[in-house]
Amino acid sequence: KSDTDIRFVCRGTFVHSTAEEALQILEDALLGVDSEGKIAFIGEGKELQKLSENFGFSPSAVTQLQQHEFFMPGMIDTHIHASQYSYAGTALDMPLLQWLNTYTFPVESHFQDLEFAKKVYTQVVKRTLRNGTTTACYFATIHTDASLLLGQIANDFGQRALVGKVCMDRNDAVKYYRETSEESQEETYRFIKELLNKKYPLVKPVVTPRFAPSCTEALLAKLGEIAKNNKLHIQSHISENLEEVELVKELFPNSESYTDIYHKCNLLTDKTILAHGCHLSDEELVLFRKTGAALSHCPNSNISLCSGVLNVRNVLNHKVKLGLGTDMAGGYSPSILDAVRRALDSSKVLTIQDPEHKTLSFEEVFRLATLGGSQALSLDERTGNFKVGKDFDALRVNVAAPGGPIDVIQNEKPQSLNSHMRLSSSTCSLAGDDRNIVEVFVAGKKVVPFSEP
Ligand code: GUN
Ligand code: ZN
Repeated sequence: KSDTDIRFVCRGTFVHSTAEEALQILEDALLGVDSEGKIAFIGEGKELQKLSENFGFSPSAVTQLQQHEFFMPGMIDTHIHASQYSYAGTALDMPLLQWLNTYTFPVESHFQDLEFAKKVYTQVVKRTLRNGTTTACYFATIHTDASLLLGQIANDFGQRALVGKVCMDRNDAVKYYRETSEESQEETYRFIKELLNKKYPLVKPVVTPRFAPSCTEALLAKLGEIAKNNKLHIQSHISENLEEVELVKELFPNSESYTDIYHKCNLLTDKTILAHGCHLSDEELVLFRKTGAALSHCPNSNISLCSGVLNVRNVLNHKVKLGLGTDMAGGYSPSILDAVRRALDSSKVLTIQDPEHKTLSFEEVFRLATLGGSQALSLDERTGNFKVGKDFDALRVNVAAPGGPIDVIQNEKPQSLNSHMRLSSSTCSLAGDDRNIVEVFVAGKKVVPFSEP
């Protein structure tokens, strides 16, 4: 008999990824969550009696999922600019560098205003949670207090989050939106110290040099040192667009490659996540693999800003850790389901260009959205799938949600529950939306629907 305290038990279909299977469907499974929000057991429905005795819960207290429902792991947004939510869906008419100077930097400069920051950050946390993002890796802005506020808001709504105060000591185009090197270092220290002092259980600071063109080498090196000394996560951007890659060559003439710059500054670790990587060479991917650094694939952004198309198959063949990102507002959608669709579309574009290219499957992309994202953020000990001992981060999905887009499936006669659920989970991901996500759990706590304070 286990002495674990069980908080609740659910019975029904669970869909998740494992190392062996990109989409594993557990029919009539029984999953128990303990008092700390961790998965205490996962077994079969027919083991109810035995499990209830072993774990000391009442069989009558088990929550039974409906026929058209299933649980899947919460989705992981490995790259999102919380501040850019304020203009998402507008202004995607320029390539990256011009887009940054024209729209992004002027908008981000407003986050000095804490009232404005609070409004936007509350909206983005709520919107992403409702869309099933249980873990988000956020860029804030250069403003320390507003960045701390983002950490507080994620904590208050119960979202697991990495939060970065953006660092940039170089910006010739928009001079009012930059820091001195000293400010950037000191404020990074203050941000880390104050965020860690809050002891939020699910929110961590992430060292955030914006990207090589907006940082001097001295600042990059300092940030690498801070991350190393404090064992922190690191995030940035890399090789998103060809003009940016050329600019980096000019700004860092002594470096072998874009990746080499970050590597020399100790910014490539197994807790590093870099967005995009559309134009990386195979040698650079080898360096990612050696250092354990991960990539965030942000297909909506890559297409919206005409940046490039990441060859995910090549990244996976190099065994580089990879997750999906929305990259709001380079990407216009706050939803990782959207990223799943765009990743599949982008992969199909590569197949159109080269019929030898092996198109990504739905199952592979589902894994990127969940387990892959957790590995890319080095959070796979805590989240990513339904393994015993991990936190229960989960979405209760209703394929036939009232008002939702899908009402066809429920009228079909599936040959087996398994093929039905395979169809349901892919249909929901490819044609569904937040209306199909009826409940969201993070670390065993129901965070959607929101319990308004
Ligand atoms: N590179 C540097 N900053 C940014 C940003 O805010 N968005 C995107 N997409 N790329 C960047
Ligand atoms: Zn970005």
